[in-house]
Amino acid sequence: MEYNFDEPLKREGTSCVKYDSRQEIFGKKDVIPMWVADMDFKCPPAVTDALRQRLKHEILGYTVRREEYFSSIKKWLRKRYEWHIENEWIVFSPGIVPALNICTLAFTEPGDKIIVQPPVYFPFFNAVTDHKRKLLFNRLKETNGQWSIDFDDLERKAAQGARMLLLSSPHNPVGRSWSKEELEKLSRICLDNNILIISDEIHADLVLPGHRHIPLAKISGPVADNTLTCMAPSKTFNLAGLSTSSMIISNPGLRKKFEDAINSLHITGGNIFGTEASIAAYSFGEEWLDQLLLYIKNNIEYLVVRLKEVELVSPVIPEATYMVWLDCRRMKMSGPELNEFFINKAGVGLSEGSMFGPGGEGFMRINLACNHEILRKAMDNFINALKSLEK
Ligand SMILES: Cc1ncc(COP(=O)(O)O)c(C=O)c1O
Repeated sequence: MEYNFDEPLKREGTSCVKYDSRQEIFGKKDVIPMWVADMDFKCPPAVTDALRQRLKHEILGYTVRREEYFSSIKKWLRKRYEWHIENEWIVFSPGIVPALNICTLAFTEPGDKIIVQPPVYFPFFNAVTDHKRKLLFNRLKETNGQWSIDFDDLERKAAQGARMLLLSSPHNPVGRSWSKEELEKLSRICLDNNILIISDEIHADLVLPGHRHIPLAKISGPVADNTLTCMAPSKTFNLAGLSTSSMIISNPGLRKKFEDAINSLHITGGNIFGTEASIAAYSFGEEWLDQLLLYIKNNIEYLVVRLKEVELVSPVIPEATYMVWLDCRRMKMSGPELNEFFINKAGVGLSEGSMFGPGGEGFMRINLACNHEILRKAMDNFINALKSLEK
């Protein structure tokens, strides 16, 4: 079956944060929203069919996750990553951000140091500081537009008594899909220094054609024993509004600690629709995903070609995700100035780089998960605005 990602869709007025919060976020309602990480595409028809089917029953009482919920995740991970897990390793969480915060509470004490690798998805910072733990920055390195982990710095930070590391794999926002060698090095340093790894792999399924995602826990038995992996169908299949995600924890001791912490908050009931959508997406969504990835790759290629028309902005070519990290440093503007320029001169709402922490200054993140027509219009505006600046 061929899926139509070109279909024009109206999202305004659907309680959708990406469109309906533009006034609050950008100060105006008519910017083309290319910020928060959700997609302007319908989710796979298998998902909506499953939800319709469930709704026909018309009783929406308390829910329980049946065996298929776990086995569909298990089969998906085996098929996509040759990662063999057991059903009982899967622990439900209503979101990955809540799970990160729960890990902080379950595995560290106030005052403990936690390593993050900025520029990175900014809720990582709050998952540390909101609970009175301390951030240790292991800043990513950038060399000629290529981003990588600074392992010398990681060694130094690890030796400062850090208890935990939050890994974004693939990395949001720089779009890296970490290689086996990088994952081996990182996990070796963490094992040597007794640092627990929370590997946020929510973007795993969005690794672009030509690249490969390696679950960190596949690196070795000792690494699996020292890792909690975050996975979800929410980014992959555009189901974020259903608040359904999972932690994969093979180490029984760590799993028990995580379960005790999350159960103590009474937030694991989940919702009927999230369960049905997750089962349908993982069981029947693969072809849809493969076509989506080609569509996104095409959008990225289009952006790269269009940006050749200007000198002030250059893209960091992503290996994963539908977000592109744009190097705007030649514009010589502060974060607020860049925001102002893109909102008011280009009419596009992007994510400003300094939100992602040190190293993000002078960058903007653009979300390309939209149909080609929206992207073409956004790029026309974008290029025209930049050309007027270059004159
Ligand atoms: C790295 C990363 N983790 C987690 C999330 C959000 O997870 P959730 O919506 O399940 O809390 C995002 C969303 O963009 C993300 O990029």
